[in-house]
Amino acid sequence: MADGTMTGKRIHNFNAGPSILPAEVFQQAAAAVLDFNGTGLSILEFGHRTPEFTAVMEEARSLVKELMNLDANHEVLFLHGGASTQFMQVPMNLLDTKDTAAFTDTGVWSSKAIKEAKIFGNVDVVASSKDKGYTYVPKNYVIPAHAKYFHYTTNNTIEGTEVFDIPETNIPLFADMSSDILSHQMDFNRFALIYAGAQKNIGAAGVNVVILDKHILKGIDRKLPSMMDYRLHIENGSMLNTPPVFAIYVCLLTLRWLKKQGGVAAIEKVNREKADLLYQTIDAYPIFRPTVAKEDRSRMNVVFVMDDPEKEKEFLALCKKENMVGVKGHRSVGGFRISLYNALGLDSVKAITGLMRAFATR
Ligand SMILES: Cc1ncc(COP(=O)(O)O)c(C=O)c1O
Repeated sequence: MADGTMTGKRIHNFNAGPSILPAEVFQQAAAAVLDFNGTGLSILEFGHRTPEFTAVMEEARSLVKELMNLDANHEVLFLHGGASTQFMQVPMNLLDTKDTAAFTDTGVWSSKAIKEAKIFGNVDVVASSKDKGYTYVPKNYVIPAHAKYFHYTTNNTIEGTEVFDIPETNIPLFADMSSDILSHQMDFNRFALIYAGAQKNIGAAGVNVVILDKHILKGIDRKLPSMMDYRLHIENGSMLNTPPVFAIYVCLLTLRWLKKQGGVAAIEKVNREKADLLYQTIDAYPIFRPTVAKEDRSRMNVVFVMDDPEKEKEFLALCKKENMVGVKGHRSVGGFRISLYNALGLDSVKAITGLMRAFATR
């Protein structure tokens, strides 16, 4: 465990996902595996239609609404399948063969969302940063008014860019927020649909959070497989079939933790401090070369390289020796990626920036 409770070894976990969760969440989840709420049963053997689990589901959904300040039009669902399933489920519900969806192509994940949408309808890629290896966020593009919806990725987990301003448009706005949901304040009500895999800022892998404005579902007139149909999931309170009970429980514990920290505004403050410290360290020493445009730097996934591959190997070995894990960059970018999700403490960022400083000045 990241706080060393089990091994006595302090580990700093910079993994990109699944990633660090709060230490108290690990402890509470472990306790519930042995005895869920004093019932004498494990959460792993607990019926999902019991009053106890229904209460878990209800509290988790209402905490998402509360933490994101969602209005009454927005429904919150916990669904199976990872964010990748949403790449398909969104257009399957909301994009007809003759419709067009507008997208920006800002990285590996948005290009996967585009690929899946093309199976169901037309796609208009209104801007792309592929020409420069997805190292910046395109701006000043035009979103066509006739498109059914506009989809973008708020944080590009692999490349390390983040979109801080919500695009202006009158058409329904959809976003993949897998890697920066709940990390900074936004007017979430401006979105008609948001989805996120849980395994970064929300909880454990195996579940998605999908938030949608009920009104966008009104015009659907095609036949959909039941498990793909958002309307059925809403009618059944996210319990159309057996939900991923344990993963949802871990989400509840993480959401409770976030509320206790002071919610999204409070965690944003810490997230800014962590990112500032790390980028200042990168900028201070020329041995570290940031790979993305300064104004688009992600506060969740910090990507940089060194020009000498031998030195990169040396630094990675040093991180390993110092119990700093998850530092290696994604294979498509190379170098380093340090993820700074909500549960990562400032102390871990101080530890790695200390190591970077020592490495750069030795
Ligand atoms: C922005 C983004 N979208 C989608 C995905 C895919 O998520 P999943 O593995 O849950 O399908 C990821 C995974 O890291 C991601 O970072």
